[in-house]
Amino acid sequence: MLSYKLAVLCLSASVLIATNALGAVFDKRAAAFFDPVLGGGSMFIDAGNGLGEPLNVIISGLSSPDVLTLDGVTNFARAIGFSQECLDIHLGNPFSANLGDGHGAVNQSVELRQDFGDPALGTCLESLIGGNHFRVFFQNGPTADSGAVFLAVSKEEDLEENHTIVPDGYDIGRNLLVESALGTTSFSGVTYSTTAQNITGLMPAGSAGVNHGIAVDGIVTLLTVNIV
Ligand SMILES: *[C@@H]1O[C@H](CO)[C@@H](O)[C@H](O)[C@H]1NC(C)=O
Ligand SMILES: *[C@@H]1O[C@H](CO)[C@@H](O)[C@H](O)[C@H]1NC(C)=O
Ligand SMILES: *[C@@H]1O[C@H](CO)[C@@H](O)[C@H](O)[C@H]1NC(C)=O
Repeated sequence: MLSYKLAVLCLSASVLIATNALGAVFDKRAAAFFDPVLGGGSMFIDAGNGLGEPLNVIISGLSSPDVLTLDGVTNFARAIGFSQECLDIHLGNPFSANLGDGHGAVNQSVELRQDFGDPALGTCLESLIGGNHFRVFFQNGPTADSGAVFLAVSKEEDLEENHTIVPDGYDIGRNLLVESALGTTSFSGVTYSTTAQNITGLMPAGSAGVNHGIAVDGIVTLLTVNIV
C-alpha cells in the first residue's frame, strides 16, 4: 500500500514532496496529497453550470494531524483572517469536487470568508463588500487517503455584483491567502508555523472550462501547516 502511494506520488506533477515523508512516523499520514486526476477526479470543483473553479491551495497531508479536520482547518482559517459565513447564513449553493479518492463527487465541507479582523461579524462585511473566500474539501476516501485539505480560493466582488469573482480573482485569492498563512500565526491558543511551495503541472493554465471565464496561472500552492 505504501509503495503504491509512493508510486502515485512520483507520478504527480513536478512536485518535490518532502523526502522525510519516506521515513514518516506512522501516526501521521504518509503523503502530501494525491493527484486527483490520477484517481478519476479533477483539480477543478463543479460550479454547477458545467464550469469549474480551481483547487488552487492544498494543505499538505504531512501537516499536523490536528489541522486536517473540520474543526482544525476552521481554527487555522481563523488564525489567517477567515471565519465561518455571516451568522451561518449561506448565500450561494454548495459546490462539489471529486478528489479522486474513491468518494466521487462530494460537496464542500465548509465555506470560509475573510473576516476583516472580526471573527464574529466580519464575514457579514465580506458578504456586503466582497473579499477573499474559500471552499474546503478533504481528500480522505478509501483509495487516496492523504488527509490533505484542498481549497478552492477566490476573491469576490460585493453583493451588488452578485458575488462574482474579481478579474484574476482565483490567482489573487490564492496569493492573498498564502501571504496571510506564511510564518507564525495563532488563534484560540493554537500556534501554527506554515511553509509554502508552488506546484506546476497539476492544473492546466488558462481559462478553458473555468467559471466566469477567468484564466488561472496553473499554480497550486502547497501549504504545510505545523502546530508548534
Ligand atoms: C450538494 O448539496 C446540494 C444541496 O444540498 C444537493 O442538492 C446535492 O445533491 C449535493 N451534491 C452532492 C454531490 O452531494
Ligand atoms: C445580479 O443578479 C440580479 C438578479 O438575478 C440581476 O438583476 C442583476 O443584473 C445582477 N447584477 C450584476 C451586476 O450582474
Ligand atoms: C507562488 O507563485 C505566486 C505567483 O507567481 C508567487 O506570487 C508566490 O510568491 C509563489 N510562492 C512561492 C512559495 O514560491
